[in-house]
Amino acid sequence: MIELEEEAQLAASPSTASLAASPTNQQVPVVVLEGLTRTFGEDPPVHALRDVELTIRRGEWVAIVGPSGSGKSTLLNILGLLDRQTSGVYCLQGIDVAGLDDVSRAGLRGRRIGFVFQAFHLMPHRSVLENVMLAELYIGKPRKGRRDRAMAALDRVSLTDRADFSPTKLSGGQQQRAAIARAPVGEPSLLLADEPTGNLDTQNADSVLDVFSDLSTDGLTLAVITHDEHVASRAHRRVRIVDGVLHEMPSELRPVPGSPDGAAQ
Ligand SMILES: Nc1ncnc2c1ncn2[C@@H]1O[C@H](COP(=O)(O)OP(=O)(O)OP(=O)(O)O)[C@@H](O)[C@H]1O
Ligand SMILES: [Mg+2]
Repeated sequence: MIELEEEAQLAASPSTASLAASPTNQQVPVVVLEGLTRTFGEDPPVHALRDVELTIRRGEWVAIVGPSGSGKSTLLNILGLLDRQTSGVYCLQGIDVAGLDDVSRAGLRGRRIGFVFQAFHLMPHRSVLENVMLAELYIGKPRKGRRDRAMAALDRVSLTDRADFSPTKLSGGQQQRAAIARAPVGEPSLLLADEPTGNLDTQNADSVLDVFSDLSTDGLTLAVITHDEHVASRAHRRVRIVDGVLHEMPSELRPVPGSPDGAAQ
């Protein structure tokens, strides 16, 4: 089994070091999509995303809504560097990702992006606590205090009593909360979540939304797919995708932390 420090060395591969040092100016939007398309197959092709334009600034929390099959997960996979667009531009904190090779993309993903995806499983041979601790490896924080920081993250989602469990022994909702505790620990710039409250009761869903709210206040940018109106209503902005076409939805102005006038764009 690979030990924690060995994994840290693997994570800090030299080929990605230059990306870690690239500018993260707060004025540069975290996400810029221009004319982005994703087409699957031929005969006939599926146009999962069509000409998507989207800018997400630091500290913004964007809810992504739309019917089943409309392109929401396709968009999140591209934002998470798990898939490549067919055409158009995606700049992540000013970096045009189209030109990056797979190793550089993996490094950027590890450092800048946190995932709360159902397919992003917790590591089954590690305890819940170790899963959260491992999320720090990409950012090279000192080992000292790692356990306490991970316990604090678990406490935010009321999972301290499951810290030493294997993730395989957790309920679906507990696994989801563990993934939510883990995602921000690596201090990503962008947190992507696909139906993060899908398995949760109202009380746990509300505490997850409170965690998201605190994270966006701290400057983390969130893109969250949801079909739940209550979840969408907590976001600063809502975008809707129908048949691969993305539209901004009018929403009440909410303060966005860090924006010059304190108001949503
Ligand atoms: N790997 C793939 N190959 C071919 N078609 C795909 C692939 N992935 C997605 N699609 C198609 O792209 C379209 C958008 O899929 P996507 O998964 O983004 O939808 P979604 O909005 O997330 O739906 P849901 O709410 O059901 O999760 C669908 O028509 C789907 O069949
Ligand atoms: Mg989906």
